[in-house]
Parts: sequence; structure tokens; C-alpha cells
Amino acid sequence: METLISIANLSFAYDKIEVFHDFFFSFEAGQRIGLVGSNGSGKSTLLQLIMGLLKPSAGEIELFGQARRTEKEFREARLQIGFVFQDANDQLFCPTVGDDLAFGPLNMGKTDQEAEQIVDETLALLNLTAFKDRVTYGLSDGEKKLVALGTALAMKPKMLILDEPTTCLDPEACQRIASVLLNCGLPYLVVAHDRAFLDQVVTSSVRLKDGRIVSEPKGLAGLARPLSALASELA
Ligand SMILES: Nc1ncnc2c1ncn2[C@@H]1O[C@H](COP(=O)(O)OP(=O)(O)OP(=O)(O)O)[C@@H](O)[C@H]1O
Ligand SMILES: [Mg+2]
Repeated sequence: METLISIANLSFAYDKIEVFHDFFFSFEAGQRIGLVGSNGSGKSTLLQLIMGLLKPSAGEIELFGQARRTEKEFREARLQIGFVFQDANDQLFCPTVGDDLAFGPLNMGKTDQEAEQIVDETLALLNLTAFKDRVTYGLSDGEKKLVALGTALAMKPKMLILDEPTTCLDPEACQRIASVLLNCGLPYLVVAHDRAFLDQVVTSSVRLKDGRIVSEPKGLAGLARPLSALASELA
């Protein structure tokens, strides 16, 4: 199995707040992992280190089997990773939803026509076709989250890294994201506090605690079941 992410001996601090010291983590092709942990445990920091958006003070980060140190090396890896930021406002910067989704494909050298086709397919997948010409900054927070996932999928990435993709979403939109993830055919690492959602979409979970990865029972009952089944049991 190909190792997609390998982190060894990593250290990172924000000024004087140490988040990681001698930290290890790996993620293999074919895995769908939930990353959980209390507020402030370092989940978003870890994802940003993986993406090269923060720089470690020590240690190694390998992505797709290659060590990544320089911005150029991280940029090459980033093009293959669909990343959803915890705050969708960090991700969406074009005037319209369609422009935001086209940005990645155009940046990767697709023609206008190819990019438009990808945009239309992605919007349809997320049930957002009617949003194509909407002004992005005027969307609700939940709508922005869905568009942010769209920008990640439009890159046709090799894997997804998702930081709380379901916050602000109503149950129907959560269900849509769950079904998009289950059907996307990609490995993913997803941070979420919503255990029922995680139960549905991941094959295992790990917990970030005191700067270390500790294993985590998969979820409420340890088995992947549809939310509908869970809801009827809880009723
Ligand atoms: N830009 C920053 N400057 C200083 N400290 C920061 C910064 N960003 C995060 N931190 C601190 O680093 C630690 C880890 O934060 P991080 O955002 O990675 O946690 P998290 O697990 O994603 O939390 P949440 O579940 O609330 O999203 C926290 O103590 C936080 O206060
Ligand atoms: Mg976070």
C-alpha cells in the first residue's frame, strides 16, 4: 500500500505554544480516517503542516513518497490534495461560486471549456447547480462549506484532507457530504466532532491528545451504519 503521508520527529510551536514535539503520523492509500480531539488539541495545525501552510521547526514530512521541505515541493503535492479549510472564508476568494470552482482546474492547465465542464459536474454532485453564478461572499456559512468541498473535488485530487466539513450544515447537507465522500473513491483524512457523521464515512479514527496520536474506538457502536439506522435506534 502506498504511503500518502508520513511524518516523523515533527516539532511545531506558535511562538511559545508548543503543539507538537517529536510527533509521528502516517496515512496510507485506501484509508479513510477520522481525526478527533478536543478543541485546541492541534488538529487544524497538523493539517496545515501537512499542506505546507505552516513550517515545522524540526522533523520530516513526506507526501506521496517524497520528502517535502521547500514551498515548491509542497506546492507540487498540494495540487494532488483536495483540502477543505476549517473556515470556508480562507478558501473562497473569487467573485462567484463558478469562478471559485474553476480556479483549481484552470491553475492546473485545463482549458476554459474543460474547467467549465468540471465545474458543472461538481456543482451537480453537490446539488449546487443553481449556485453557479451566485456571489460567493453572499452565501450562508453552510453553503460556503459545500462550495469549499466543491473546490477541493474540482481539483481531481488523489486524496482529500477535510477540516470539519460538516460544521454549519443542516442534516440534509451533512447527508449529501457523507454520500459524496462514500462514493468519491478517494482516501481521506477528515476532522470532525460529529461522531455520527464520522461513523458513517470513516473506516477508523485516531485521536490527537497531548501532541500524540492515540487510537480511538471507531464511534458510537464501532460499526459503520447509515445515519438513518442510527436515528431509528435512538428514537
Ligand atoms: N495562529 C495561531 N497563533 C497562536 N496560537 C495558535 C494559532 N492557531 C492555533 N493556535 C493554538 O494552537 C493550539 C492548536 O490549535 P488548533 O487550531 O490546531 O486546534 P484544533 O484541534 O484544530 O481545535 P478546534 O477543534 O477548536 O478546531 C491551540 O492551543 C491554539 O490556541
Ligand atoms: Mg481546528
